[in-house]
Amino acid sequence: MAEIEKKPIKIVETVLRDAHQSLIATRLTTEQMLPIVDKMDKVGYHAVECWGGATFDASLRFLKEDPWDRLRKFRDGFKNTKLQMLFRGQNILGYRPYADDVVEYFVQKSVANGIDIIRIFDCLNDLRNLQTAVKAANAEKAEAQVALSYTLGDAYTLDYWVDIAKRIEDMGANSICIKDMAGLLLPYKATELVGALKEAVDLPIELHTHYTSGVASMTYLKAVEAGVDIIDTAMSPFALGTSQPATEVMVETFKGTPYDTGFDQKLLAEIADYFRPIRDEALDSGLLNPKNLGVNIKTLLYQVPGGMLSNLTSQLKEQGAEDKFYEVLEEVPRVRKDLGEPPLVTPSSQIVGTQAVFNVLMGERYKMATKETKDVLSGKYGATVKPFNEEVKKKVLGDDAEVITCRPADLIPDELDTLEKEMAQYKQQDEDVLSYALFPQVAIDFFKYRDAQQKKVDATIADTENGSYPV
Ligand code: CO
Repeated sequence: MAEIEKKPIKIVETVLRDAHQSLIATRLTTEQMLPIVDKMDKVGYHAVECWGGATFDASLRFLKEDPWDRLRKFRDGFKNTKLQMLFRGQNILGYRPYADDVVEYFVQKSVANGIDIIRIFDCLNDLRNLQTAVKAANAEKAEAQVALSYTLGDAYTLDYWVDIAKRIEDMGANSICIKDMAGLLLPYKATELVGALKEAVDLPIELHTHYTSGVASMTYLKAVEAGVDIIDTAMSPFALGTSQPATEVMVETFKGTPYDTGFDQKLLAEIADYFRPIRDEALDSGLLNPKNLGVNIKTLLYQVPGGMLSNLTSQLKEQGAEDKFYEVLEEVPRVRKDLGEPPLVTPSSQIVGTQAVFNVLMGERYKMATKETKDVLSGKYGATVKPFNEEVKKKVLGDDAEVITCRPADLIPDELDTLEKEMAQYKQQDEDVLSYALFPQVAIDFFKYRDAQQKKVDATIADTENGSYPV
């Protein structure tokens, strides 16, 4: 019998980013994560995803932490493991497109503070929205990984994915990720998709999915057999449900096969032991909703990401219109079609979801359109795969609306100098201007909090020096 060629599957651990973003609203603090970094560094992960996505916003807004400081602490702790972040293309880590100078500076500072791999995606899969970030990552000698926002729909054929993968390779990316944020990729579809991509491009292919619909670990198995190079998993206490398949389970699955990771299960068990009480505490406090841990088959029926489902529930609750949930769910795919059938991922998921809520609650479709819906229809987020619904576009924008077809960021003048001036009085480090650029009000609140904390510390030191500190 011919010896089968060994091809250990590479693992990206998501417990420090996507797993807690998906299960507990991104609330793990730096203090909760740091004590386990040393052990995680010994596992042999291809990378640890630990920054970007919603962690930046949540750190500043809810945890009153400096996200840059968190990144530097990770960098100090992870001596042998690559650090990976998630980056929303021209939207950086925010919800609107920024000028190129902000995107470039953000990439530069992310790498300078410790990031090795930048996973860059666009909610419309408009590659023009990724150009600046990819070039900036190349310039900083970081790995530029471009993620395809995976979705279903008439336009999303195997040919579509193969074509876009080839264009990603041409634009200078170092690897490609299939980013299945809603858990829609079925096992046998993964065989087809991964097979087609491996044949079409030479870049390493990574698969990122969520357990929401219950098929994710089977999807990984088929993807690995089809030649995928890297999979994203989360340590078991923060796995499954709306998060990723469990690291230990995938490691055990491939044991003794050509895909064997060689990871030490004892070491993984020690890491899981560390995270388990944190998970239990989150369950006790209600931060972790047991509903998020089950199989949500509605994601397959409505093709709506898990996070979007919970957003819709809370939006409707606020309006006292919870009884409209299924009406809204059915309106979501219609709005999506009207807006050119984009993938549903931040920020397009929020835009489509909010508009669907408006359409149902107002009793007339597009009687009121959000600013974001208008911007999508004006081309300000980029090009969609399918054309817009012309009738809807007319109703929302009027007859003589200005519509752009160029790369949206070409129309955004450089912003850094203005931003620097606006926040100068709060600046303590170069990176502060980037926090301010993304979340102006939240950042100012944080800067004020930081100043107040420092004054408290200064006062305590002064008291100690005066000998009045209680002992
Ligand atoms: Co994800």
